[in-house]
Amino acid sequence: VVDDVAVDGYQLLDAGDGARLERFGAHLVDRPHAGALAPRRDPGAWRAADLRFDRDGGWTGPGVAGARPGWGIRVAGVDLRLRPTSAGQVGFFPEHVGQLDWLRSQVDARTERRKDAAPSVEILNLFAHTGLHTTVLAQRGAHVTHVDSARSAVDWARQNAAANGLADHPIRWIVDDVRAYAAREARRGRRYDGVILDPPAYGHGGRQAWRLADHLPDLLATCTGLLHADGFLLLSAHSEGVRPGDLGTLLVRSLRSSTGPAPEVGDSTLVSAAGGTLEMGGYARWSGAS
Ligand SMILES: C[S@@+](CC[C@H](N)C(=O)[O-])C[C@H]1O[C@@H](n2cnc3c(N)ncnc32)[C@H](O)[C@@H]1O
Repeated sequence: VVDDVAVDGYQLLDAGDGARLERFGAHLVDRPHAGALAPRRDPGAWRAADLRFDRDGGWTGPGVAGARPGWGIRVAGVDLRLRPTSAGQVGFFPEHVGQLDWLRSQVDARTERRKDAAPSVEILNLFAHTGLHTTVLAQRGAHVTHVDSARSAVDWARQNAAANGLADHPIRWIVDDVRAYAAREARRGRRYDGVILDPPAYGHGGRQAWRLADHLPDLLATCTGLLHADGFLLLSAHSEGVRPGDLGTLLVRSLRSSTGPAPEVGDSTLVSAAGGTLEMGGYARWSGAS
């Protein structure tokens, strides 16, 4: 359960009746959330929302004009630029915050083991979106390969990295389909210390469509093949009907020939200030390091 996200810039205030109410820095956002089935606990709080999203009407509310050019928040030690997108997102997934300490510790442990012997810890970040993970790991000194098929997402992630003083850090910014890119890296014999995947249920890779249900097993097999024996992998998904146990099972199948402990699986549940919980999918993670 992610109950420590309410640090600085973000807070889930309430959820219910098919929507969630969240503060992202200067803006209070009311938007649909299909999994918010319970009644609202704090109905009065919703009146203060200055940004509302509706699938038919798009964004409305007194904050829209001010939000469109973008605004900044600081979460978990990272400065992020946000803006309202046509899909009803703002560029930050709070459920990711619960994985950041684990990711930092994976990089730190490997950096420590190598000491001055370089090379740096190499991470492949797939479906990398606006780059929270990329920024956090680059802050830790890792060299990150950031892959997303949307040029706008990659540009956004670059701005986020730059906002954190990482404009000159070695980050490879790749606009490509993750399946095509991972397969190419496998053919080139590349190896990574860590792979992160945050696949949506459906997406566009440019030349080919992405469907989690059809394509995740093969992509995972390719990704586990890209890992050093002591590598690590984080798989998260927030799509309806995808349970953490399913992610763990898929990961175990792809890791069949590897050594190391079993994957850890868990829910990415958010706790609201009003006292409710919101299911945000889950994760499976694995580290081959002893
Ligand atoms: C952050 S992930 C999804 C986050 C979250 N797991 C969810 O389900 O909403 C979405 C990102 O994946 C990217 N994406 C979708 N399909 C892709 C593909 N085939 N190859 C590369 N990136 C893709 C999108 O451009 C977007 O930035």
